Amino acid sequence: MGAAIMKPAPKTYAVKSFGCQMNVYDGERMAELMAEQGLAATDAASADLVILNTCHIREKATEKVYSEIGRLRKDGRKPMIAVAGCVAQAEGEEIARRAKVDVVVGPQAYHNLPELVSTAAEKGLALDTDMPPELKFASLPARRKVGPSAFLTVQEGCDKFCTYCVVPYTRGAEVSRPFAAIVEEARSLVGAGAREITLLGQNVNAWRDADGRGLEKLAETLAEIPGLARIRYTTSHPNDMTDGLIAAHRDLPQLMPFLHLPVQSGNDRVLRAMNRSHSRDSYLRILDRVRAVRPDIALSGDFIVGFPGETEAEFADTLSLVDAVGYAQCFSFKYSPRPGTPAATMDDAVPAEVMDDRLQRLQAALNRDQIAFNRATVGRTCDVLIERTGKYPGQMLGKSPWLQSVIVTGDHAIGDIVTVRIAEAGPNSLMGVVERETPAAA
Ligand code: SAH
Ligand code: SF4
Ligand code: F3S
Repeated sequence: MGAAIMKPAPKTYAVKSFGCQMNVYDGERMAELMAEQGLAATDAASADLVILNTCHIREKATEKVYSEIGRLRKDGRKPMIAVAGCVAQAEGEEIARRAKVDVVVGPQAYHNLPELVSTAAEKGLALDTDMPPELKFASLPARRKVGPSAFLTVQEGCDKFCTYCVVPYTRGAEVSRPFAAIVEEARSLVGAGAREITLLGQNVNAWRDADGRGLEKLAETLAEIPGLARIRYTTSHPNDMTDGLIAAHRDLPQLMPFLHLPVQSGNDRVLRAMNRSHSRDSYLRILDRVRAVRPDIALSGDFIVGFPGETEAEFADTLSLVDAVGYAQCFSFKYSPRPGTPAATMDDAVPAEVMDDRLQRLQAALNRDQIAFNRATVGRTCDVLIERTGKYPGQMLGKSPWLQSVIVTGDHAIGDIVTVRIAEAGPNSLMGVVERETPAAA
């Protein structure tokens, strides 16, 4: 294998995360780990050690790793490069060979980063893509200062094996973190400044502890933490949407009225070929039940267009599902064949130009609904959690309960919750007029 050129032990570090929110969370934990080792944070262009926390979900995401590595080596610079995340897990030694990086570490092994970095400095390439049954979390340092909205991974991995998807291979089997460890981390996040916590998992609503408690019990317990005003969770699978969790959307005021529930396609044949294990109808029935208990809930989803064999009529079923639901916001993607997945060897690939056309039509429908959803909030009064300063002086930016970005004017502190009347709605943000304030210290 092409050995990396050895480099001295690093004194500064930078972490760059790509992909999903779970990677953002892992990136924060890796940064905390490096800081605990005495390394100083800096930007990627000058750091001695750059950790690329990568995503493998689509071909473009994977290719990004290689362009990033090229960029880091521009002008003859030779930082120590650690490839972490899902590409590290999927490609392992291949990435070390192809890109001559110093460390390759999988998503379940990054608690070993300090050791791997020393090994790389002493001997060259260090690789760890083990997936030990016990989770890494117990051996990570305590949480540092965080913003008002924090992520907290409670569940990892996936047992669903959708035929297009790499996640079951890169993140391993579904595992839930223990109840007590999550509550403790949530408390320390609130102590570190969080007013909102988003519980994360590849299938977060499959979270279940040894005593059989589900996500709604966890949310109920977290809701008792003083200072924690909002709870969210993502991403959910339709088949794990239990009655208990649906009821929590009625009973738990801290649980925000937002549900991200990917469907991928509105056609039953395509759903079967994707191994989604839900149908168009069973999905729509779940949304009906959620809307029955929480009529104002904002719905979100993920879609894939151009899955192998998808016909125009089958794609039309996706458009009609979108029309039937009226989503608040969505993500939509062109199908990307991934090595090692069953769909990658399926016949009847959809031509690129057909995929482009379908994606455009789908996104037009989704944009239309997003604007309609935003417009429907005009005139309503709601709470906004202030998260950062806005684009223009005097403006602050926060989130509505329905996860819309809301711009407000005035001197509000980050972490404040202000009650606003929504005055205007654009496609991507709302303007709010502040009526009342609840300071962060309340
Ligand atoms: N566990 C989550 C999401 C995982 S990945 C879920 O099942 O809902 C996020 C999204 O990426 C998926 O919902 C899907 O829409 C998209 N995706 C996954 N694999 C893909 C592929 N091979 N090509 C295109 N999009 C893909
Ligand atoms: Fe991938 Fe399907 Fe698992 Fe989501 S449920 S992570 S799409 S295999
Ligand atoms: Fe990407 Fe891995 Fe997340 S493949 S989407 S970083 S689970």
